[in-house]
Amino acid sequence: MTDASSPLALVVLAAGKGTRMKSDLHKVLHPIAGRPMLMHLMASADALEPARKVVVVGAGREQLATALGDSAELAVQDPQLGTGHAVQQAEGALAGFSGDVLILYGDVPFVRTETMRAMLERLHAGDNPAVVVLGFEPEDALQYGRVIAENGVVKKMVEHKDASAEERACRLCNSGLMAVRGDELFALLARVGNDNAQGEYYLTDIVNVANGDGRVCAVVVTDDAGEVAGINSRAELAEAEARWQKKRRLQAMADGASLVAPETVWFAWDTVLGRDVTVEQNVVFGPGVTVADNVVIHAFCHIEGARLESGVSVGPFARLRPGAVLEEKARVGNFVEVKNAVLHAGAKANHLTYLGDADVGAGANIGAGTITCNYDGYFKYRTVIGERAFIGSNSALIAPVKIGADAIVAAGSAVSRDVADGELRLVRAEQLVKPGWADRFHDAMKRKKAERK
Ligand code: UD1
Ligand code: CA
Repeated sequence: MTDASSPLALVVLAAGKGTRMKSDLHKVLHPIAGRPMLMHLMASADALEPARKVVVVGAGREQLATALGDSAELAVQDPQLGTGHAVQQAEGALAGFSGDVLILYGDVPFVRTETMRAMLERLHAGDNPAVVVLGFEPEDALQYGRVIAENGVVKKMVEHKDASAEERACRLCNSGLMAVRGDELFALLARVGNDNAQGEYYLTDIVNVANGDGRVCAVVVTDDAGEVAGINSRAELAEAEARWQKKRRLQAMADGASLVAPETVWFAWDTVLGRDVTVEQNVVFGPGVTVADNVVIHAFCHIEGARLESGVSVGPFARLRPGAVLEEKARVGNFVEVKNAVLHAGAKANHLTYLGDADVGAGANIGAGTITCNYDGYFKYRTVIGERAFIGSNSALIAPVKIGADAIVAAGSAVSRDVADGELRLVRAEQLVKPGWADRFHDAMKRKKAERK
């Protein structure tokens, strides 16, 4: 069992160069489901309530400092002399700490909390292991370090490049993750040398050093190779995204949403869906979306930073941007863009409309082609539309402007001054009516043309 009295420290390795990403963005900040991979890992580890968190970083430390804020300490590793050397850089930050240390990789973001917990529980088992290694059996073991073990007890850790043919035949591989007692970790690391095929200080050698002292070291094996998959290239990033999305779609359906074509729906890490939500084909959720019960999202919608209350209908082909709030039974139809705007209960914008920085009263009807003109090239302004107001098609509401409750704005109006409750506002030229004029015109022109032949 986990020793409840034993506090936990995380050491997350992220000093590798990440050259295969070919990116100016630090590898561990590349997003999966709209969230940096490092933050996925931190969230899973946070469930264990770590007392200390240290991220070991090389190049790009400013980017990590910005992303982490004060949620973790940074330790710099420069130059990068191997995984053992990387963990040693956390020694200063962990001075005086004597709990358990969980060593994670920033580019292995989807290790489950249960797996981490299993490693820590094993660390406190009766045989008192010095180190617990997380092993797995990949389909292709080639490049991984091997865990030579018997009955869950590790005999030797060996890197692929240093391994004999017999050792390479071993299928149990090292994921890289380890749990170690804090009061032993740095003493073990200090005894690790770099006399090996790569001239690196291998973290894995702490197991061999502890074994030499007659200590037990254990391996916990995960049967989910996906959770220990490292991300080293854009292709692996896309594969990790695909695995994440596949799981999330299954979860959405298990929770009571209908996905008409699940493989075409893309969720963000924090998407919240209610029950009896229908999501049609080709819908993309960016971060920050909450969808209540009984909502229909028609095909080809892009939704980000939005709250959809119950009974809402969106799309097809709608775009909801951050700050969009659709209250109960509001409707947003095709080719409508909503940004930082609230549609109160039952309000409708069914066709070809831009609603930005706006407040649309309950039951209001926004006609096709309505535009809130919210920006003058320098500042943004709000449009406030009252309850049950009717905005005629192809109107331009030039903010800041208020349209009163029950008011009617005639089609084609460009409204730049406030409209009172119950008012009709018509902003367009008086109509010229000339009965029979077109008939006379056609007769005259046809005659002229005939004369010229
Ligand atoms: C390491 C393990 C290997 C395991 C494999 C799993 C060692 C010696 N080898 O291999 O047994 O099968 O992971 O992927 O531990 N890093 C640093 N500083 C360094 C070197 C690496 O921070 O000086 C970080 C990297 O950013 C990465 C992690 O450590 O997050 C692993 O580095 P990587 O080079 O991918 O691992 P290998 O040495 O190939
Ligand atoms: Ca790797």
